[in-house]
Amino acid sequence: MMLSGTQRSTAVIGLQWGDEGKGKLVDLLAPSFDAVVRYNGGANAGHSVVVGDERFALHLVPSGVLARGVRSVIGNGVVVDPQQLLTELEGLESRGIETDGLVVSSRAHVVMPYHIAEDRVREAGISGGMGALGTTGRGIGPAYADKVQRSSAVRVADLLEADALRERVATAMAFKQPMFERYAPEALDNLGLDALVERGLAWGESLGSRIVESTHLLETILDEGGSLLFEGANATMLDIDHGTFPYVTSSHPGVHGIGSGTGLPPTVVERVLGGAKAYQTRVGAGPMPTELTDATGEAIREQGREFGTTTGRPRRVGWLDLVALRYSARLNGVTELAVMLLDVLAGHEELRVCTAYRLPDGDVTDRYIPETHALARCQPVFETLQGFDTDITGVTSIGDLPAAARGYLDRIESFVGVPITVVSVGPERTQTVYAATGAAS
Ligand code: IMP
Repeated sequence: MMLSGTQRSTAVIGLQWGDEGKGKLVDLLAPSFDAVVRYNGGANAGHSVVVGDERFALHLVPSGVLARGVRSVIGNGVVVDPQQLLTELEGLESRGIETDGLVVSSRAHVVMPYHIAEDRVREAGISGGMGALGTTGRGIGPAYADKVQRSSAVRVADLLEADALRERVATAMAFKQPMFERYAPEALDNLGLDALVERGLAWGESLGSRIVESTHLLETILDEGGSLLFEGANATMLDIDHGTFPYVTSSHPGVHGIGSGTGLPPTVVERVLGGAKAYQTRVGAGPMPTELTDATGEAIREQGREFGTTTGRPRRVGWLDLVALRYSARLNGVTELAVMLLDVLAGHEELRVCTAYRLPDGDVTDRYIPETHALARCQPVFETLQGFDTDITGVTSIGDLPAAARGYLDRIESFVGVPITVVSVGPERTQTVYAATGAAS
């Protein structure tokens, strides 16, 4: 993988249930591009980037912000919580990070305080938990729902138009008021119309010249021979259509989201780098056939520090599900794989990968089952591979990995059918191993 010079426009996509290390990948690749572009999701994402002794937790700001001279674009497909965005920008600036190159689409939708309140009401569950999905509580679903409803939605451009903003917010609250009165009357204390409009206009003023027509900006960069790095947030198995519905997020985290979330044609994406952990994790509810609820799972959680960047919740841990990974790689047309957190698997005598599912009637299939109830009834069929004991956090070339670790990568490559070009062995930029074509052998 080249890390300098102009690149073909590339997407970095999470192939599992999130937290695959996309932030690190984007941070590594960003200096070779003219702009890093977010196109989906919102502050539900939690991308950690480690530079030297410093750890940055980014939620809305694209992970390319740490690369000097590279623009950061929040595309129209993102749902933006302006308060969170302004707080994140302030935090970066106070640590000496230049943020002038960050812009936000005038057509992105706004996460208003009542969306966050509504997310919490829904998550509290009705009649003893009915309806809870284990969301991040960042107002993502309700904001996207209002986007689809249209009349009650607020776009970033509306933060600059007092009358339009008032009308939008009044419409939204007319529908939401009875819900809050019934389920969370205390939330209404902070949801008065005048205060909401005032807050929205203040956000608009603070964002000011950062608000742009983003599609035109991206087209111009491409017309001038530049290239774009698309940063997927959340992950493919949380896709609203192709993930484990309804235990998903409300957008298209894979390549499918790039066209609608930026206004560019999908053909603009020439390379797709799919990120997958060497094992897997999930936060929130929903099936994950390879879940480990025993001491091995606990050991991986501790070793991998698997606690949410956005919510602090302990992540559910499982062996690598190659059936799901191949499904996800194919959905995205992945051209290269990045295997992340391989170092976390050191110390296990044996490693397991799931290569098929056993259905309740005893049949075995190596095809993914996208129907959630049926998936929940499947048992994983595991293949056992040799583990490795060595600390690999200082390894810098594929050849220096223990043979068992290389064998593990080989199996991933052969099952998924996509070359591994990056292997991550620790959080630091330097703890990254590159392979030109295929990591194994
Ligand atoms: P929401 O996106 O906050 O509505 O949450 C819906 C589901 O997606 C929940 O299970 C969340 O835990 C999960 N989720 C959303 N974003 C991420 C992410 O960036 N990493 C991991 N899980 C996520």
